[in-house]
Amino acid sequence: MRAFTAKILLAGLIPGLPCLAQNDTCPTSICETIKSELSGKVEYPDTAAYIKTNTYWSARQDLMPSCIVYPTSPEDVARTLWLVTNSSSPFTVKSGGHTAFDGGSSIQDGVLIALENMRNISVSDDRGTVSIGPGNRWINVTQAAEPYGIAVVGGRSPLVGVSGFLLGGGLSFLLGKRGMGCDNVRNYQVALASGEIVDANPSSNTDLYWALRGGAGSSYGIVTRFDLEAYPQGNIWSRLSVWPTNSSESVLHTFTKVTREKMHSGLDPDAHMMFGMSYAGGAPMDPIPTVFQFHLNLNSSYAPGGEFDTHAAFQETALPNAMSNTTEVLGISATIYRTTQGGGGFGDRESWYATSISDGPYSDAFMNKVQAAYAAWAGDLRAKMTARGDMLNVTMVFQPLTNPAFEAMQRNGGNALGLKPKEYPSYIVSVPTTWNLKANDDFVDGSVEAFVNQLDDMAKTAGFGHGYEYMNYSGKFQSKNGTVIASYGKENQERLREIAQKYDPNGQLRALWTGYHKP
Ligand SMILES: Cc1cc2nc3c(=O)[nH]c(=O)nc-3n(C[C@H](O)[C@H](O)[C@H](O)COP(=O)(O)OP(=O)(O)OC[C@H]3O[C@@H](n4cnc5c(N)ncnc54)[C@H](O)[C@@H]3O)c2cc1C
Ligand SMILES: *[C@@H]1O[C@H](CO)[C@@H](O)[C@H](O)[C@H]1NC(C)=O
Ligand SMILES: *[C@@H]1O[C@H](CO)[C@@H](O)[C@H](O)[C@H]1NC(C)=O
Ligand SMILES: *[C@@H]1O[C@H](CO)[C@@H](O)[C@H](O)[C@H]1NC(C)=O
Ligand SMILES: *[C@@H]1O[C@H](CO)[C@@H](O)[C@H](O)[C@H]1NC(C)=O
Ligand SMILES: *[C@@H]1O[C@H](CO)[C@@H](O)[C@H](O)[C@H]1NC(C)=O
Ligand SMILES: *[C@@H]1O[C@H](CO)[C@@H](O)[C@H](O)[C@H]1NC(C)=O
Ligand SMILES: *[C@@H]1O[C@H](CO)[C@@H](O)[C@H](O)[C@H]1NC(C)=O
Ligand SMILES: *[C@@H]1O[C@H](CO)[C@@H](O)[C@H](O)[C@H]1NC(C)=O
Ligand SMILES: *[C@@H]1O[C@H](CO)[C@@H](O)[C@H](O)[C@H]1NC(C)=O
Ligand SMILES: *[C@@H]1O[C@H](CO)[C@@H](O)[C@H](O)[C@H]1NC(C)=O
Repeated sequence: MRAFTAKILLAGLIPGLPCLAQNDTCPTSICETIKSELSGKVEYPDTAAYIKTNTYWSARQDLMPSCIVYPTSPEDVARTLWLVTNSSSPFTVKSGGHTAFDGGSSIQDGVLIALENMRNISVSDDRGTVSIGPGNRWINVTQAAEPYGIAVVGGRSPLVGVSGFLLGGGLSFLLGKRGMGCDNVRNYQVALASGEIVDANPSSNTDLYWALRGGAGSSYGIVTRFDLEAYPQGNIWSRLSVWPTNSSESVLHTFTKVTREKMHSGLDPDAHMMFGMSYAGGAPMDPIPTVFQFHLNLNSSYAPGGEFDTHAAFQETALPNAMSNTTEVLGISATIYRTTQGGGGFGDRESWYATSISDGPYSDAFMNKVQAAYAAWAGDLRAKMTARGDMLNVTMVFQPLTNPAFEAMQRNGGNALGLKPKEYPSYIVSVPTTWNLKANDDFVDGSVEAFVNQLDDMAKTAGFGHGYEYMNYSGKFQSKNGTVIASYGKENQERLREIAQKYDPNGQLRALWTGYHKP
């Protein structure tokens, strides 16, 4: 590690080591070296292509890569990876560019490998597999699959990239039945630091196949194609209901009850729910609408007001006093657009943070304490942000992890996340926030971290602690300090380290691929 750092600092001053940026003292930058081999596929700052690519969901990626490389084939990726590692040049990789914190999707003064020109999508003749290039966004994969009457276990938001999503786990509408996105990858084609291109699947490079299912991509190689398992799929029924704050206890009670009795039990693994409490706009202490979202993996013959409204899983959720209640039956692509249009992005600064809690038979008192702690913290932080001349929107989201999902995760030798079936369901808890001013980045990260630590302590004390941190919702400090992979358990962390060592024996990816989540 130290040797590489030294080389980075000396780059350009030692003959034979390419520079990061081209200038008088540094005539052959790594960018020029790549350009000489990948002709027409390298862009420098201020070109239209560079500016378009260097745009991200979170305004915190306001960094300037030395150049952007646009590979169009697995061979281009492998060659670029070999060139940057051989010259000890810092680099990172962009798929959909949806990481919240700075440096997650981009790099200052280094090489950005942008996968946006690798967007092939092909459906197998038997409709059982969809092969996708790593630069795709979920909307395009979903729209390509839909005409065949199939769906993959993919994103619920249109512009999220396939690579980050699949390599960190992947929570989809099909979570309850199929596990995470990573549990439904048949094969990864991967470019290694050595310049080799290999396949990882249940029969070859099985250790790499295991590591890529949740272990973060950036320690092993760049995935150049994902072959995804596909399933027959009709339309989705969904309902978004919003209640005023004073209903939140009964809504949360119903949410946990339905999760336990209908989903965790296996009675209706097609059901999918999220619970969120959101402060957005308005005065700091304005009421928090409480949101319930349901999605059912069923077929278009069901219509609003029909059979579905009394569906076993959700009949208990028709609680009184809803402020709004929107029910729709749409294809997955249209559902993705309808349910996820709100929520900031492309211009706002963003911080996410993840933890999880376990449920139990008598969790109402604990859940109510969590809500109260959240409301107190969020109101206080919003007031502080107003005093700092900024505004902050904040949501706390619970997403159930149930036994049918845990069981699906054990397929093909299991994934790297270390999650197992349990007596009671668990909830992934995330706390996404958005604000406007760069000067408040550290302030918000610190405040969110303190709140999540408080929540973890409360959970531990009350016997509802869990520990798992979902990588793709994690915060900057969690990612940097390595707490996410540590949360997979010591044994899995050790195994991930060994696999990284095997496929990247000189530690070049761990040293040079900036960003986060190294085992
Ligand atoms: C609006 C929004 C909605 C979301 N919805 C969901 C959701 O429904 N479910 C869910 O689970 N998550 C969701 N997420 C989280 C999402 O999964 C993560 O942000 C994810 O990292 C995004 O992937 P990306 O490719 O867009 O990110 P990028 O920032 O492009 O990539 C993330 C990191 O992955 C690595 N990487 C990229 N491509 C490759 C590759 N080919 N090989 C190896 N490593 C690679 C790079 O190191 C990069 O830094 C959402 C995020 C947002 C902002
Ligand atoms: C040229 O780039 C090198 C390395 O990237 C750097 O060390 C050096 O200071 C730069 N020189 C000038 C004149 O900018
Ligand atoms: C993309 O698909 C086209 C046509 O099927 C094929 O020729 C090409 O090799 C594919 N590219 C990649 C990177 O898979
Ligand atoms: C770069 O490649 C050359 C030729 O294969 C090799 O001798 C050298 O050790 C490599 N350097 C690094 C840092 O990988
Ligand atoms: C992806 O889908 C969006 C929305 O349908 C469309 O505008 C865009 O052109 C598609 N991109 C590609 C590469 O197919
Ligand atoms: C999501 O997972 C990817 C792939 O491992 C990782 O690189 C990325 O940083 C994760 N997102 C967040 C927000 O940590
Ligand atoms: C709950 O809040 C709503 C909207 O703020 C209000 O109209 C209603 O009277 C309140 N109900 C109770 C029982 O306080
Ligand atoms: C959807 O329902 C109709 C009518 O019940 C049935 O004919 C069709 O096969 C179903 N489609 C799927 C994908 O289940
Ligand atoms: C939403 O509307 C449906 C259909 O009109 C109704 O059955 C249900 O009770 C309503 N739910 C809420 C929370 O208002
Ligand atoms: C916060 O939410 C409000 C209301 O939805 C919106 O108008 C505003 O732009 C959001 N602000 C930020 C910083 O996201
Ligand atoms: C990460 O490390 C920093 C500095 O060492 C510390 O302040 C912070 O609390 C740590 N966060 C986590 C989540 O471990």
